[in-house]
Amino acid sequence: MLERGKTSSDGGARARGPGDSSIPAGALGADLAESLELLTASLLELQDEPRAAEVARIAERDPRLASRVKSRLAALDDLGMALDAPRRGLLLPARFGSLRRLERVGGGGMGEVHLARDERTNGLAALKLVRPDHLWFEAARARFRREIEATTRLSHPGIVRVLDVGEESGIPWLAMEWVGGATLEEVLEQVRGMPPETLSARDFAAAVRTSAALRPQPEVEREDAFEGASWIELVTRVVARVAEALAHAHEHGVIHRDVKPSNILVTPAGRVLLVDFGLALPRGVDRMTRTGAWLGSLPYAAPEQVEGSPSALDARADVYSLGATLYELLTLKTPFLGGPESVGRRRIPTGDLEAPRKLHPALGAELERTCLAALDPDPRRRPASTTHFAADLDLALRGKRVRARARSSSARRSRGPPARTPAPRLRARAPARRRRGA
Ligand SMILES: Nc1ncnc2c1ncn2[C@@H]1O[C@H](COP(=O)(O)OP(=O)(O)O)[C@@H](O)[C@H]1O
Ligand SMILES: [Mg+2]
Repeated sequence: MLERGKTSSDGGARARGPGDSSIPAGALGADLAESLELLTASLLELQDEPRAAEVARIAERDPRLASRVKSRLAALDDLGMALDAPRRGLLLPARFGSLRRLERVGGGGMGEVHLARDERTNGLAALKLVRPDHLWFEAARARFRREIEATTRLSHPGIVRVLDVGEESGIPWLAMEWVGGATLEEVLEQVRGMPPETLSARDFAAAVRTSAALRPQPEVEREDAFEGASWIELVTRVVARVAEALAHAHEHGVIHRDVKPSNILVTPAGRVLLVDFGLALPRGVDRMTRTGAWLGSLPYAAPEQVEGSPSALDARADVYSLGATLYELLTLKTPFLGGPESVGRRRIPTGDLEAPRKLHPALGAELERTCLAALDPDPRRRPASTTHFAADLDLALRGKRVRARARSSSARRSRGPPARTPAPRLRARAPARRRRGA
């Protein structure tokens, strides 16, 4: 019942289909061995038909690369590693340390998450593993090691707690507290298509409960779990809580790099938790950033993550992604998502964005300004930290003037030379609706 399969709520699993240009451009350009590995890994994500179509497309551009990829895939097939998720599940060990593995509950990128029972305590746990078909890839193992390292050094009420780590039959695993709850993406899915001005705080609470009811809940639901008189106020407070959790990570030198609705859990008892530090990077380490960046969902990735120099990434990349998450929660539209991935890729750096207040007229000007400042293509014009961002969100909710003045020329002068990337331009209407799989 808990299996969500290929179309799980995780953005990474969704953007796959025959018509997508799902293979990241960056995977073809970098160092050949690593790009071959990444390319093969992303092809494994596809079902047979789209996989064949994608290989054919690669063959048109680069027959040599296509033949190397094909022989890799054939080798993996021989090893039984290119199987679909349900069959793969059967091959996994039943026990990891003191944990007994139960249903698979999610997973999109290179990892998957299972509900598990800790036989020592009889409590529930979330068991995260590198997907078995990705164990083959050193890059996947390295990412998972970083996730373990990042998550274990953080301790904050807004960050999911690690219970134990280990390796079973060659499969590294990470056990976290079982949070239950619903992801913000699941919440969004329930209200998508509704006019945002018709939504209330109760709708948010109801959406959390409906999704949470699909899996075990470790905590008792609270009537007063969600502060906020309106949808706008409530989602803004949720985002401010995530901003505080991120500030803790940043203070400890960890940049999340994959903040998006499917990586934020909200429980019916009112907890807000950040998960999935799979792309997290201790500051100063920049290897794999560029090749790994595509694994985060593109609409939430800062322009400098998509195009820029990996070593230049800092906490403001997370400010951007959280700004994109806020934009989506306020307007019910994914910023910049209006067409195929390739179009999104081009649009992110240009900052061509629909004004939140056009999509949701009840939004205050200060809240709109804070949201757009976080989404500024130039990191120097964004709030300097998630702490600043949270403070502005709080000011905006209290009807006060926020500090962010992203697009004023004085703000730009005081923070350095003018950026090459233009400020976000506001458009009156989006040209295309959100498309599944785009
Ligand atoms: N601690 C947890 N408690 C309950 N559910 C969780 C927990 N961690 C993750 N999940 C669920 O599993 C999904 C995938 O987890 P995540 O860490 O984001 O993996 P991936 O790297 O595959 O995206 C989440 O979107 C969420 O639904
Ligand atoms: Mg995730």
